[in-house]
This record gives sequence, structure tokens and C-alpha cells, in this order.
Amino acid sequence: MEKIRLDKFLSDLGFGSRKETKKLVKQKRVKVNDAVVNNPSFHLNPEKDAVSVDEQPVQYKKHHYYMLNKPSGYITATEDRDYPTVMEIFADLPFYRKLFPIGRLDMDTEGLLIITDDGQFAHRISHPKWEVEKEYFAVVEGDASGLEKERERFEREGLQLKDYRTKPFKLQLVETSPDRSKIKITVSEGKHHIVKRIMERLGYPVLYLKRVRIGSLQLDEGLETGQYRELTEEEVEKLKKQVNL
Ligand code: URA
Repeated sequence: MEKIRLDKFLSDLGFGSRKETKKLVKQKRVKVNDAVVNNPSFHLNPEKDAVSVDEQPVQYKKHHYYMLNKPSGYITATEDRDYPTVMEIFADLPFYRKLFPIGRLDMDTEGLLIITDDGQFAHRISHPKWEVEKEYFAVVEGDASGLEKERERFEREGLQLKDYRTKPFKLQLVETSPDRSKIKITVSEGKHHIVKRIMERLGYPVLYLKRVRIGSLQLDEGLETGQYRELTEEEVEKLKKQVNL
């Protein structure tokens, strides 16, 4: 890999604008191979040289990918005047302003959200053409056992909503009781409120909704709501493969 300037390297990693990263270097907060470098135009090899900022090692990556277990009460957006956004959860990362969520979960929905700074990847994962599956766990009102016999029809034909016919979807009953049921539902489209609309139309309004999978990526059960972790290279590669990247 070609050598690049230290201030540009830091800026690419999200440590701020070039002006800001120049300042960071001049403040002697940056080390290259364990030696303080205070010259922003110092050239380094991102693949070979070890860089740290405030004693924290930084690794050169073109893009970042995270999974968040979204908590209820947060808006899936980068900014909002009235409510906390999912991006505020990432505010401790120096480059968090470059990150954004892929797709959208309702304010009261929990579960798997991918956060990245890779625009092309985000576009493909959410584009209907690639039909990336999204699996949800839901608690619904009422005894949903009657849906068992309709499952095949939904998988073949989808469901006609008031103004829209859904794509085929998969439904699985997890547990039923007279007043509420647990289900799993897998859709391959990102239409607004799609799961709630389907279940409302079938007569079983959603009481709780959590996304547990996007394509090959399963929500890490070890993540509490509100926690996030970086995706492994393998997880990213599998997702990319699904959308031909
Ligand atoms: N479908 C919904 O109704 N809500 C979500 O948040 C996601 C899918």
C-alpha cells in the first residue's frame, strides 16, 4: 500500500477534518511505531506502521461495520430534534459522525441494526432487488394458532394489505396462548411498519417487536439492548457475498 500523510490517515479514520487532525498531531497526541510524531505531513504505510492516538492503538480500515442491539425509545436516524437517536449510542467513537444506520427500525422496535460508513454496502443491503431477509421475533395480541394453516399461502403469495401486496413472507408460531402469542416472521422487504401492518391485517396486533437477523447476520444474543460490537471480517464478507460485493 502507498504511503499517506499522517493527518490524512487520521482524517480517513474519522478523527476529524484535516484541520482537526493536524492539530491532534501538533498536540503530540499521536505516535507512530511508539515514537511521538508532531509533523502532520509525516508519511506512513497504513499496513505496516503502528499508530496510536492518546495511547490507543488505531487500525486502518477503509470502512467500519457494527451490529447494535437497538433499545426501544431510540429513533433510527442520525439526527432528531425531539428524541434520542441510535447514533448517540456510538458517540464515544471518534469517527461516529461518519456512521449511519442501514434501514430503519421503529422507535419501539428492538434488535439488530447494522451501523456503517460504507454507502455502497448499505445501499445494497436495503435495496429490494437483493431481497435480503429480515427476521423478527414478535409478541402479538390473541391466539395466533389459526395462522398455521395459512403459512404456505403467505410463503407463496404474500398478503394483500389495504394499499399494497407484500412480497412472500415466512411465518412461524413459537408459542400460543388465548391472550397472546409469540411468532417469528421473515420478510425480504424494508417497507415502513411492514411487520406491524401484516399482523394488524391478520387480526393480531404487535405488542413487542425485535429484529433477530439480517441475511446471514444473526443478532448476537450476548449483546444487551443498547450495546454494540464490531462485525467480524467473516460476518462482513458473508453479507457482502449475498449482495454481490
Ligand atoms: N416492521 C415493523 O412494523 N416495524 C419495524 O420496526 C420493522 C419492521
